[in-house]
Amino acid sequence: MSIEFRFANDRDLDTIVEIESSSMSCPWSRDSYKEAMDSDHAFIMVATESDSCVGFAVFYLTVPESELPDIVVAESHRGKGIGKALLDASLRELTSRGVDTVFLEVRVSNERAKALYEKVGFEEIGRRKYFYSDPVEDAICMRLEMN
Ligand SMILES: CC(C)(COP(=O)(O)OP(=O)(O)OC[C@H]1O[C@@H](n2cnc3c(N)ncnc32)[C@H](O)[C@@H]1OP(=O)(O)O)[C@@H](O)C(=O)NCCC(=O)NCCS
Repeated sequence: MSIEFRFANDRDLDTIVEIESSSMSCPWSRDSYKEAMDSDHAFIMVATESDSCVGFAVFYLTVPESELPDIVVAESHRGKGIGKALLDASLRELTSRGVDTVFLEVRVSNERAKALYEKVGFEEIGRRKYFYSDPVEDAICMRLEMN
């Protein structure tokens, strides 16, 4: 089955919330996704299989900078290159909007996400003590320069 990429719409909301809540200890609310979807200063890119969402990434825009606060691939679909392809599609979109730098935070223990970010070129620029709750954990701050 082939994976495609497009912007999220209202019909994706239930699935996005379901994927998020089954993956993250402090899940985002439905309203937060709806707000990002409707904002001129954010977008949500979704990976789809038969037009059904199997992963998503949220970006906030303050051109020429952007922030990636949330990316999740459904557990059943992990380890198949979807996270990497979702980021690649999103970074192309960001470039077309004039973004040249992307920032994110990741839990120090999240080896899988760190490996993915490093693979597309993110580098560690610092750490934030006790940044996360449930469980409390430090964050690694990363930056990607796209030029
Ligand atoms: C992080 C996440 C989005 C990655 O998505 P994915 O579709 O599984 O990732 P991919 O299959 O594209 O893998 C990309 C790279 O990640 C790394 N990776 C993938 N699975 C891994 C694993 N089990 N262990 C360690 N690294 C792994 C590899 O470097 C891989 O590249 P490679 O396959 O060429 O070696 C996904 O694991 C996820 O949704 N995790 C839960 C939510 C989360 O932690 N989000 C990030 C919050 S900051």
